Amino acid sequence: MALAERLSNLGTETAFAVSLAAADWASKGNRVYPFHLGDINLATPANIAVAMNQAIAEGKTGYCAAAGITPLREALAHDVGTRRGLTYSAANVVVQPGGKPVIGKFIQTVMNPGDGVLYPNPGYPIYESMIEYYGGRSLAYRYVQTDTGFAIDLDHLRGQLAAANGRVAAIIYNNLQNPLGCESTPEEMQAIADIAIEHDLIVLADEAYFEMRYSGESTSIASLPGMFERTVILYTFSKKFAMTGWRLGAAVGPVAIAESIAKLNTNDESCTTHFVQAAGVEGITGSQEGPLAILAELQRRRDAAWSELAQIDGLVCPKPESTFYLFPKVTDLMTRMGYEEVGAFATAALHNTGVSFCTRKHFGRPQPGEQDHYVRFAYSGLSVDDIHEGLTGLRAWVDS
Ligand SMILES: Cc1ncc(COP(=O)(O)O)c(C=O)c1O
Repeated sequence: MALAERLSNLGTETAFAVSLAAADWASKGNRVYPFHLGDINLATPANIAVAMNQAIAEGKTGYCAAAGITPLREALAHDVGTRRGLTYSAANVVVQPGGKPVIGKFIQTVMNPGDGVLYPNPGYPIYESMIEYYGGRSLAYRYVQTDTGFAIDLDHLRGQLAAANGRVAAIIYNNLQNPLGCESTPEEMQAIADIAIEHDLIVLADEAYFEMRYSGESTSIASLPGMFERTVILYTFSKKFAMTGWRLGAAVGPVAIAESIAKLNTNDESCTTHFVQAAGVEGITGSQEGPLAILAELQRRRDAAWSELAQIDGLVCPKPESTFYLFPKVTDLMTRMGYEEVGAFATAALHNTGVSFCTRKHFGRPQPGEQDHYVRFAYSGLSVDDIHEGLTGLRAWVDS
C-alpha cells in the first residue's frame, strides 16, 4: 500500500519510544522511575472536575462554536491579557483541544510551502515536525550553556536568517523552555522582538509554562512594543491545572489569525469538547487553591531531583526556576563511565537502575557541531520519595 509522500516529512515525539522501552522493562517485573514523560501524576483540582460533571448534567454534550464557547473565550482573554499587561477580547481567542494543536494550525496559517520558520533546537519536537510536514524550511536556532542555565545563541539565529533562501515567515519562541528549563533575560527577549520586527516575522510565543514558575514573574514577548500585533500565544490548561489528558488550550493573538485557526478547527475537530470547555471556565475563574498546590508540590519535586543530580560527579545541572524539567550535561560522566553514545547510556541507566529519561536527540534533530551530551529529567510524574529513591539508585550505579 502506497501512503502519501508528505508523510515522510512528518516527525513525532520520539520520547514516546522511551515510554515503550520503559514499559517493556516494567513488564519484565522491573521497577521503573519514569523521568522521561512530561506528564503530571497529580489530580486535576476537584472544583474543575465538579464543573465538568455539572456541565454534562446540564446537557453541554453537543457540538458548540468552532472558536470555542464565549464564556471561555472571554475568561481567557481577560486572564491571559491581565497576566501579560495586555488587552485582549474574545475575538482574539480561539479554543483548542490542547496546546499542541496551536503549533500546526499556526504554521498552516502563516507559512507558505517553501517559507522558512525559525524554531528552538533543542526544543519541543513538534515544531520541526509541523514546519516540515507543511512544506516549510525548518531553520533551527540553538542555545549556549551559561553559568546559570542556557541562553539563545543570537549570533547563530541571525546567521540562520542571513543564510535563509527566500522568505522567512515566522519564529517560534518558547519561553519558559522545554526541555532546557531556561528563561530569557529581558535583553534576550528584546533581541528576539527586534529581529521579529526587523524581518517582519510573525511570532508563535509558546507560553505553555508561563505560570509554571517557583519564583519571579513571567513576561510575554507579546507585551514588548510592536509585538502585540505580530504574536500568537500558545496557552494550555495541561500544566497549570494538571489537565494533560483533558485536552484544552487556546491560541491568543491577532483576530485575522484567530479566525483562520477557527476555520481550521471547523475542518479538523469541529469544536473542542463542550463540557471540557465549561470546566475550563471554572479553572480560570474559580478557586486558585488547586493550581497553587500543584505548583508547590512541583517545587518540592524540583528541589528533590536537583539535590540528587547535583551530587553526581561529571554531571552539570542548572537549577531552573520554572517548567518541570532538568537538562544536565552528562559529557564528562559518560566519558568517566566509558559511554560514547547517549542512547546507550540511557538504556544502561534504565536496565541498571530503572531510571528512565529522554536524551537531547528527542528534542529536534541534533545540529552539526554539537559535541556535548545532554539528557532531560521530567520530575512532574514522580513523588518526592520516588524521586529520591530512583536518583539515589542512579547515583550508586554511576559511582560503582
Ligand atoms: C513547550 C510545549 N509546548 C506545547 C506543549 C503542548 O501541551 P499540551 O499538552 O497542552 O498539548 C507542551 C507539552 O509538553 C510543551 O512542552
